[in-house]
This record gives sequence, structure tokens and C-alpha cells, in this order.
Amino acid sequence: MHSDIQEIVLSQDRIRERIAELGVQISEDYGDEPVLMIAVLRGAAIFIADLSRQVASPIELDFMAVSSYGSSTKSSGVVRIIKDLDEDIEGRHVLVVEDILDTGLTLKYLLKNLASRKPKSLEVCTLLSKEGKQRVPISCKYIGFDVPDEFVVGYGLDYAERYRNLPYIGILKPAVYAD
Ligand code: IMP
Ligand code: MG
Repeated sequence: MHSDIQEIVLSQDRIRERIAELGVQISEDYGDEPVLMIAVLRGAAIFIADLSRQVASPIELDFMAVSSYGSSTKSSGVVRIIKDLDEDIEGRHVLVVEDILDTGLTLKYLLKNLASRKPKSLEVCTLLSKEGKQRVPISCKYIGFDVPDEFVVGYGLDYAERYRNLPYIGILKPAVYAD
């Protein structure tokens, strides 16, 4: 375990197993219909790489970058599109892939924006959802895990851009924030 990590919340094995299950569910739901999977950078990059490889339906990938956090651990509520899609989504099945649903502010903004481009369908798959935390209601069809309201890192999730490459999800030691 990394020396900055206090506790592992989700092991590499549990994440892998759950993603396989999500892949089956998504494949059954879309069948042979093509689906455009959109990852919200940068946190969801690792998740979409693993998830997309568990989906049997014909998929395409695209990426969007938004800013909602600086290097702090609190949501600012300010969302800005830093990188827009390359693809036109009108008339297509769109599945937004997110790392974590916290206040929901980022997704709310994003979904409203994407819905205005008239996709055939628009669903969300989030790896993590912080239970009881969502400030805005978001309908999220696929949820990997409900997690307690604590700041977590690893498997794409960062603290000040670090720890994204940890293969598991864990809680940082409090001393790390003090630096
Ligand atoms: P929201 O707008 O509050 O839902 O924030 C969503 C974004 O905040 C996520 O896509 C993450 O980038 C970041 N975030 C929220 N909670 C955590 C956490 O516990 N660890 C790391 N990043 C987080
Ligand atoms: Mg972040």
C-alpha cells in the first residue's frame, strides 16, 4: 500500500469484479445498438478504459474536460467546459462515464448541456456515488459503488493531481492534506 494511504476502501479485485458486472448490464441494455461512451476527464479516464473493454455492444469513445475542483477537496460549484466533444451526438445513444458523483453539480451542468444537443438517449454510469451527499438530483442508471462521504483517491481520482494511478481506491492520511 502507498505510504500516504490510510485505508483501502475498494480493492483492485472488487473494482475489477464490479466493472465486469456493469459491462454485462450495459451490454444487455444496449444490445447491438451503437453507444457513444463519453468520459469526463481526467478522473474517469481509467474507469472508461476498463469499463469499455467489458462492453460487448459496438462502442465509440469521446472525451470531455470540465473544471469543478481546483486542488482542494471541496466542490466549488463552478463548472466550465475546458475540452468539448469531438463527436456530434445528435440522434445517438450517449453514456456519460464519471468517476464520482459528489454534489452532482458537475453532472447536472453536463447533462443539461448534452441534452440540448438532442442525443437519442442519455444515461450516466458513475463508478462511485457518495451516499446522501447529492445536492442536486441526478438520475444515474449505472452506479459502481455507494461510498461514504469521505474524500477518496486512486483509480483515476486525485488529490492535487496525484494518486490517480493507484490501482485501488483509498483514503489519504490526514497529514497529506497538511503539506
Ligand atoms: P461534484 O460536482 O461535487 O459532483 O464533483 C464531481 C467531481 O469532483 C468528480 O468528478 C471528481 O473529479 C471530484 N471529486 C468529488 N469527490 C471526490 C473525492 O472524494 N475524491 C477525488 N475527487 C473527487
Ligand atoms: Mg479531481
